[in-house]
Amino acid sequence: MLRFPGRGHREPDEVVIGPLDLSARVDEALAVQALAFGLGADEIAVRRQIVLRHMVYPGARAFGATLTDGRLVGFVYGMPNDRTHWWSTVVEPYLRAQGHDAWLDDSFVITELHVHPRYQNRGIGRALITTITAGATQPRSILSAIDIDSPARGLYRSLGYEDLARRVAFPSAPKPYAVMGAPLPLRARR
Ligand SMILES: CC(C)(COP(=O)(O)OP(=O)(O)OC[C@H]1O[C@@H](n2cnc3c(N)ncnc32)[C@H](O)[C@@H]1OP(=O)(O)O)[C@@H](O)C(=O)NCCC(=O)NCCS
Repeated sequence: MLRFPGRGHREPDEVVIGPLDLSARVDEALAVQALAFGLGADEIAVRRQIVLRHMVYPGARAFGATLTDGRLVGFVYGMPNDRTHWWSTVVEPYLRAQGHDAWLDDSFVITELHVHPRYQNRGIGRALITTITAGATQPRSILSAIDIDSPARGLYRSLGYEDLARRVAFPSAPKPYAVMGAPLPLRARR
């Protein structure tokens, strides 16, 4: 369990990283995701069903960042990749075209990572992804992120994730994604 001190009287709350029962706290998590990533009510309803389905997949795990009063301010979840899962079937041809589709085997997928905007840039996202991957038995990790220079892409690169494919089109997603992969354990902070 990792602890982050608060930032003085305006944000006195300590943040604790620990295992999260995401199925039980899906609405709180999606409220964080809605603020961090920008989700409308329709998208939240769709994501809710997806998260609940994902959490019964074998090996699916989640970690949360919570304040001392129990409020959730960040979360991550993921699972061992399975080539029959929807995400894997979408990215597979893009990875194959780059000679990278072996990354889909023996790999831990980071499905979502979000930190409430007020609590960003204090190491919580880094701690969440490092903690969840530290418990993975797979030798590598993969994920997808919107294919732009963003804090998320900067964070992933700093942890050792490299681009495996770019301009990946997910059905119904308005923007292209990059698929990134890193060996585990993730690179320690430089
Ligand atoms: C991505 C996200 C989870 C990171 O969480 P966070 O708690 O703010 O991240 P951390 O403080 O642990 O890490 C910050 C790191 O991100 C990177 N980063 C932060 N801001 C950045 C920026 N403007 N440009 C590039 N990299 C940036 C840096 O690598 C930084 O590392 P440093 O601490 O060594 O400087 C958070 O920004 C977020 O929720 N974003 C919106 C939702 C989203 O994009 N989720 C990912 C979907 S793929």
